This record gives sequence, C-alpha cells and structure tokens, in this order.
Amino acid sequence: MRLIVIVGARPNFIKVGPLLPALAAAGIDAPIAHTGQHYDQAMSDVFFADLHIQPPKWLLGVGSGTHAVQTGTAMMRLEELFAEERPDAVLVVGDVNSTLAAALAAAKLQIPVVHLEAGLRSGDMSMPEEVNRLVTDQLSAMLLAPTEDAVTNLGREGIEASRVHFVGNIMAEALLRNVERVRDRVPCRDHGLEPVEYVLATIHRPENTDHPDRLAHVAAALSEAPLPVLMPVHPRTRPLLATAGIGDGTPNIRLIDPVGYLEMLALERDAAAIITDSGGVQEESCMLRTPCVTVRRNTERWVTLDVGSNRLVGADRDAILGGLSEALTSDRRWDLPPLWDDRVAQRVVEALQGGIALLGGYGE
Ligand code: UD1
Ligand code: UDP
Repeated sequence: MRLIVIVGARPNFIKVGPLLPALAAAGIDAPIAHTGQHYDQAMSDVFFADLHIQPPKWLLGVGSGTHAVQTGTAMMRLEELFAEERPDAVLVVGDVNSTLAAALAAAKLQIPVVHLEAGLRSGDMSMPEEVNRLVTDQLSAMLLAPTEDAVTNLGREGIEASRVHFVGNIMAEALLRNVERVRDRVPCRDHGLEPVEYVLATIHRPENTDHPDRLAHVAAALSEAPLPVLMPVHPRTRPLLATAGIGDGTPNIRLIDPVGYLEMLALERDAAAIITDSGGVQEESCMLRTPCVTVRRNTERWVTLDVGSNRLVGADRDAILGGLSEALTSDRRWDLPPLWDDRVAQRVVEALQGGIALLGGYGE
C-alpha cells in the first residue's frame, strides 16, 4: 500500500510524528508532502528535528494568504502531485486549510482520503477549522476518530459506521513517546521562572486575536494573573498583541518566540496552569495533569471538559481570572479519556490494513 501523508501546519507535524514509524514498520510506503502553510523555522523545521520526522519528499511552498488563496493554491499543487503519483490513498490529519485542500484535491481525483482526527465538532461554523472538519469528513473514505463523542458526531452526520474507526488520540501518543525525553529539562528557568510558579499561555485563534475588544480582555486578565505568565507567541498574534498594548515591557507577561515541541511539553508540564485557545494544548494539558482554562466560545475537545481537566471561559477578563483561580486550586485528579494512549498509531495501521477494500475508491 502506498499513501501520501499531508502536512502543512504546526499541529500536523506533531500528529504524524508517531504515525510514520508505525506505517514504516507495517511496510506501508508513506512519503510526506508538506504544503508549506507554515514555513518559519520555529513553526515547521523545529518539529521535524524534535520528532525525528523524515524530510518531506515534496515541498509545495504554498505559504500564507487568505483562506481561498491558501486552500486554492494548495489544491492546485496537490492535484498535480496526486495525478502524477496516483497513491492508493491520501492521509490527512487535523483541521487546517492544508487538510481540507488535500481532501478536496484527492476526492476529485477519486483517490480515497483517510482522515486522522475525524469527527471533532465545536458546532461553531464561524471557525475556519469547523468548516474544514465538516467537509474533510464528508469526503473521507476512512475516518479515524480520537474520542467517543467524535464517533457519535460522525454517526449523526450520516457517515456509515463501517468507515469509522475509534483509534484514540494521536496527540496523546506523541506526548507519551516524547515526554520522557524532557524529564531532566526545566526550560522555564531559561525565562527566569520556577516550576509551578508560572502560568503558560498561548493565544492564536482569530476569534480572540482579530477582535481588539476580546484581545484587550485577554491581555488584562494575563497582566492581572496571580502568577507571572509565560507566553510563546504565534507569529500571527504578536503584532495584534502590540495593538492591544501588550509588548515586551508589559508587567507580569513574558512574551517569547514560539518554542519547539519538546520545550513546549516541558513548559506545559511545569506550569501551575495553562490559559489557551489551542486545540492541541487543551489535550496536552489533560495528559500532563496541568489544569487548563480555554478562552473560547466553544470547543471541539469536549472530552477535556467532561473529564475535568479543562474549563471553558469567554474572552472576558473576570471570566478568565475566575477560571484561572479555579484551575490553580484543582486537585489535578481526573481520568484520561479512553484510548488516549501509546497504541494509537498501531490502531491506525490495523484500520488501514483491514480497510484496504474500503479504500478501493469512490466508484464511477
Ligand atoms: C493555522 C490553522 C489553525 C491552527 C494553527 C496552528 C487554518 C485555517 N488555521 O492557523 O487551525 O490552529 O495554524 O498553529 O488552517 N505566519 C508566519 N509564519 C509561519 C506561518 C504563519 O509568520 O510559518 C503568519 C502569517 O502572517 C500568516 C499568519 O501567521 O498570515 C496565519 O497563518 P495561517 O497558516 O494562515 O493560519 P494560522 O493562524 O497559523
Ligand atoms: N506548540 C509548540 N510550541 C508553541 C506552541 C504550541 O510546540 O510555541 C505545540 C503544542 O504543544 C501542540 C501544538 O503545537 O502540540 C498545537 O498547535 P497549535 O496550538 O498551533 O494549533 P491547534 O492545536 O490549536 O490547531
């Protein structure tokens, strides 16, 4: 069997990290195509190094742009690649524009799409990722779900159960396979902080960054937090933070460049609590037993609310500080969701091996 594995943005690299060795061990040829949606050293290359991911066979250089420009450019370049290579299937992960572009380009060439992290739903169609998730799942021949609620969502949307496999959360496996590697590293000290004496924050979603009033509320909460806040800043967020009055001299907040995956795991592990709007960070905080406050109107990671590792608050100063206060007094005892373990990639391999017939294509 020959797949092409699509990556484009930061969370994609982490998701394929544990998958590629499992595919290789099963004799499945799975070269990588990198769309180039993310391209900075700190947003792309560092993850290939940290996770020992083989270099992409194809670099498509798509870069930044509006949603249509980015998705359309990626579709055009991927269509050419798929038409030439004719893989047995295209494997996409997550919910970024590169995921959608690859699913559309492959489906129109009648090449089966396999979607890892299928079925997550926030119910919020103003999120670009929700659009990407819905369309990708409708186009996929095989849907690999991270949680039980994702399986339920897919059933509700009319997707046949035979195409859905509950494999668990690949982010959990990535974490479990790497966290030991940073057991002796305490990178918060490089920023003048001690373990459990700081809050880690990441904010990059347009619903927060692109609304000055909401970003001002987030900024106020971070600057008034009872512990210093360390904030690795996504490149899209930094100029917007400056307009919200947050910069390198703001009291209580230390802005740093985006960090690599291994450093991020150690920073998450050692934080007293995490404030975020990231999907992956909500999951990692659950795995690492660091209480999380999610600044969003909704989440597709419902399971983290259910188990009690995470709390959802709007972009409101008082709500964020209230959520943080609750997080800081959490007993950190919650059950991990089912199949958030180190066997996820193996289940993906088994689903692929058992589903070869299903991957026969879409028919004429
Ligand atoms: C994308 C995903 C989002 C994911 C995030 C992970 C979509 C619709 N969004 O959002 O789901 O959570 O990645 O990080 O796919 N930029 C750089 N350097 C880079 C990459 C981006 O400076 O290497 C800047 C550019 O100004 C660019 C902006 O960030 O315009 C946004 O990048 P883009 O890939 O469009 O979306 P993200 O906000 O990163
Ligand atoms: N991450 C990282 N360095 C950072 C910020 C995030 O390595 O400075 C990792 C984080 O640990 C998680 C992934 O990036 O594994 C999440 O990606 P992001 O928040 O960009 O996207 P999302 O998950 O929201 O789509």
